[in-house]
Amino acid sequence: MQDTIRFVFDDRIMEIGFSDSSGFKPTTTLLNYLRSLLSHKGVKEGCAEGDCGACTVVLAEVDEHGKLSYQTVDSCLVFLPMIHGKQLITVENLAFYKEKHRILHPVQEMLMRANGSQCGYCTPGVVMSIFGLFKNHQNPTRETIEDALTGNLCRCTGYQPILEAAQKVCSGNAKDHFSQYEPGVIELLNEITSKFETIKITKGKQLYTKPFTLPEALKLRKDHRLATVINGSTDVALRQTKKKELLTNILDLSGVGELSYCKEEKDAFLIGAGMPLEKVRLFAQDRLPALNNILKVFGSLQIRNMATLGGNVGSASPIGDTLPLLMAYKAKIKVNSLSEERYIMIEDFITGYRKTALKEDELITEISIPKLDENTTICSYKVSTRKDMDISTVSAAFRLEIQHRKVISSVLAFGGMATVPIRAAETEKFLKGKEWSRKTVEEAMIILEKEFAPISDARAEAEFRTTVSKNLLLKFLLETTEPGTTSLP
Ligand SMILES: Cc1cc2nc3c(=O)[nH]c(=O)nc-3n(C[C@H](O)[C@H](O)[C@H](O)COP(=O)(O)OP(=O)(O)OC[C@H]3O[C@@H](n4cnc5c(N)ncnc54)[C@H](O)[C@@H]3O)c2cc1C
Ligand code: FES
Ligand code: FES
Repeated sequence: MQDTIRFVFDDRIMEIGFSDSSGFKPTTTLLNYLRSLLSHKGVKEGCAEGDCGACTVVLAEVDEHGKLSYQTVDSCLVFLPMIHGKQLITVENLAFYKEKHRILHPVQEMLMRANGSQCGYCTPGVVMSIFGLFKNHQNPTRETIEDALTGNLCRCTGYQPILEAAQKVCSGNAKDHFSQYEPGVIELLNEITSKFETIKITKGKQLYTKPFTLPEALKLRKDHRLATVINGSTDVALRQTKKKELLTNILDLSGVGELSYCKEEKDAFLIGAGMPLEKVRLFAQDRLPALNNILKVFGSLQIRNMATLGGNVGSASPIGDTLPLLMAYKAKIKVNSLSEERYIMIEDFITGYRKTALKEDELITEISIPKLDENTTICSYKVSTRKDMDISTVSAAFRLEIQHRKVISSVLAFGGMATVPIRAAETEKFLKGKEWSRKTVEEAMIILEKEFAPISDARAEAEFRTTVSKNLLLKFLLETTEPGTTSLP
């Protein structure tokens, strides 16, 4: 076991220990660590809950091709041990010195020329988001640029100059000093990650473990049954940053490479529980369009770079965006303990408000999504106050198996309508054997109206939720039958 963490920062390997004198807890956020350093105060706290992007930094790691992959993250949601084995890049690392002259990075230079900053509070975060875009895309589309900046709020400049700067700096083939120093950084990172010893940090009342293999993770799960499991920590970190809870026992799975994969098999798509949602989205693009569709409006890029599919399933939230969809896909959740492996249908996996069928010694390891046959269509929908960076008021996923315009079977799954993601069982029963037509759906909407008793809260009135759920069903009909839209057999 090791009790220190190591990462590349300011061109060298940095080590942090957690002894009584160090001043850092294992749950110190990356944001608070950076703000404690005199030389890296560019990063700002706006919200401490992943909404504003003022704390955006970039983490680089060696990918499966041996190259560096650069990802923007909200440092307010990252616990320090999560950056072990990565390169940390902040706004201070972008400019470089040539013969004692400070030369701005092309991203900084372009933002300045485009008048993309006024008060400057959001600017370090905006710069880092554009830097992430610059490192990952050449000539990105407007959609990609907007997506990269969705997680950054600016309240005075206005977004037009920022978007223009991003578009201009990413057009062409500009290289920067990071490209030049990549081989050296990769060597340093490989030196850190060649050591697979579990990190175990004890400080005060806290125990934080970070294994690097699945067997070790399962063993720790067995030995520490009450530990809070984290993967991306985008859900769990808020318990500390917002609710001020002291997380006393954490099992961090973010270093377990065996949980990060997407595979296509003959009958199913298999997604490792630790796969970040942005990578899941890219995998889903040509294979699982309804999943890609819902992930496009899931949080921001910073959130999707950390958040995992296993974490969304594990949260069992009534408004977890992938959950109704996984119901429509009839997905199976693979769970493992040291002694057993079992598959649980997603509907049986969620047992109550934020409750799951997971035993105390088990971990979610994989989500298995069966392939659809040619008679089956699935669509997903999210209705929220804002299109981007907002949680669902109502979400829905519909599955329809149809032959000669008659409904063979359906799944109508909703989020935000009850304390758990839920299926409209009565309406599904009504649809069976009926013609898939406007008349049938209008009758189905009357039944659907009576199936749920949603709550009224700050997001919406119960009546609004009911109306939206019915209208989404109508939208599904129109999308599957109108000329020029998804056609059914
Ligand atoms: C700004 C912001 C925006 C967000 N937007 C959305 C959104 O649009 N839609 C949405 O659905 N959610 C959203 N979320 C919530 C959150 O990002 C998601 O639920 C995310 O998928 C959680 O994944 P994670 O890996 O970060 O989970 P974590 O926070 O690490 O864990 C979440 C839960 O799952 C459990 N868990 C995680 N992995 C495992 C495992 N392998 N085995 C057993 N248990 C496990 C944890 O114990 C915990 O209970 C948002 C959060 C923030 C902060
Ligand atoms: S401080 Fe707002 S996203 Fe981190
Ligand atoms: S420049 Fe002031 S908030 Fe963006």
